[in-house]
Amino acid sequence: MAKNWTFENIPDLQGKTIIVTGGNSGLGYESVKAFALKGATVILACRNLAKGEKAKNEILKTNPSGEIQVMQLDLANLTSVEAFAKKFASEHKQLNVLLNNAGIMATPNIKTDDGFEAQLGTNHLGHFALTGHLLPLLKGTPQSRVVNVSSLAHKGGKMDFNDLMFEKCRKFKPMRAYGQSKLANLLFTYELQRFFEANNIDCIAVAAHPGGSNTRLANHFETNKFMEAVSKIARGAMQPAAKGALPQIRASVDANVKGGDYFGPSGIGELFGYPVLVKSNAASHNEENARKLWVVSEKLTGVKYA
Ligand SMILES: NC(=O)c1ccc[n+]([C@@H]2O[C@H](COP(=O)([O-])OP(=O)(O)OC[C@H]3O[C@@H](n4cnc5c(N)ncnc54)[C@H](OP(=O)(O)O)[C@@H]3O)[C@@H](O)[C@H]2O)c1
Repeated sequence: MAKNWTFENIPDLQGKTIIVTGGNSGLGYESVKAFALKGATVILACRNLAKGEKAKNEILKTNPSGEIQVMQLDLANLTSVEAFAKKFASEHKQLNVLLNNAGIMATPNIKTDDGFEAQLGTNHLGHFALTGHLLPLLKGTPQSRVVNVSSLAHKGGKMDFNDLMFEKCRKFKPMRAYGQSKLANLLFTYELQRFFEANNIDCIAVAAHPGGSNTRLANHFETNKFMEAVSKIARGAMQPAAKGALPQIRASVDANVKGGDYFGPSGIGELFGYPVLVKSNAASHNEENARKLWVVSEKLTGVKYA
């Protein structure tokens, strides 16, 4: 076996069912493609069905026998999240991996349909609700997994439970809100793992980050021609999405992964390279904040974990 963990290390996934949120673009697209090539049934969850079908058809060009089902999911709308989970549960009997990949970065100060700050609402609360709705299927599938995609940006994040939505004392800054949402992804992962252990549930919670990967994530920075050019140059220096997706793919399917693991790229500053175990910061391991986030997330989404 080669020293680096690559596509070749992905086991045979026939008989496995995997959901990838944001599966139409960037890291999600590459994850769908890889899982389908290894024989999984993959649910490409996307907010825009036309984009999802286009992505699916692109993948099928190189893998005509790929089992890919496109399903509508808008994480910025709790009704859509619940409808997705209900439809999935009515059509599938198992869920081996839920890859919570979708995300937005550095948006202006806008709200989700339910009135949450957009980045916390989409990146964390939408996935919190989705995971909670899918819990019965995760519980019913032996050795299932939930994988949350965080970011190096979690290190700049701060949870302010008095002003999670930047409406009271905190000045809104796009990357400050992104950092908070990515820190929330990790707090949620570790608390979810404790929940699984405390309740003897045969499921693990794992996290991953892609370093710097060339995707459409930074499109909110591209507000004019100049910024577009700068962004294009920056993206050109990043690793390709197919490589950036390897940490979340490894977290999803490597048999040696343990609950609470966090994977990222091996290179300098974890910006690029092959997937290895990495460490998240102290704030992400703050159990008091993880508990608080869990309680407030249940309250805000109305989804109770039981
Ligand atoms: N690229 C990087 O360097 C980098 C670094 C650190 C972390 N990450 C994380 O990696 C994950 C994937 O991002 P990416 O880089 O692959 O970016 P991307 O190419 O922009 O893909 C993001 C995906 O999320 C989807 N999405 C956004 N809002 C959604 C919503 N409300 N409901 C459902 N889906 C929604 C997008 O759908 P549309 O196509 O419809 O917009 C798209 O499919 C994110 O969680 C991001 O925070 C990326």
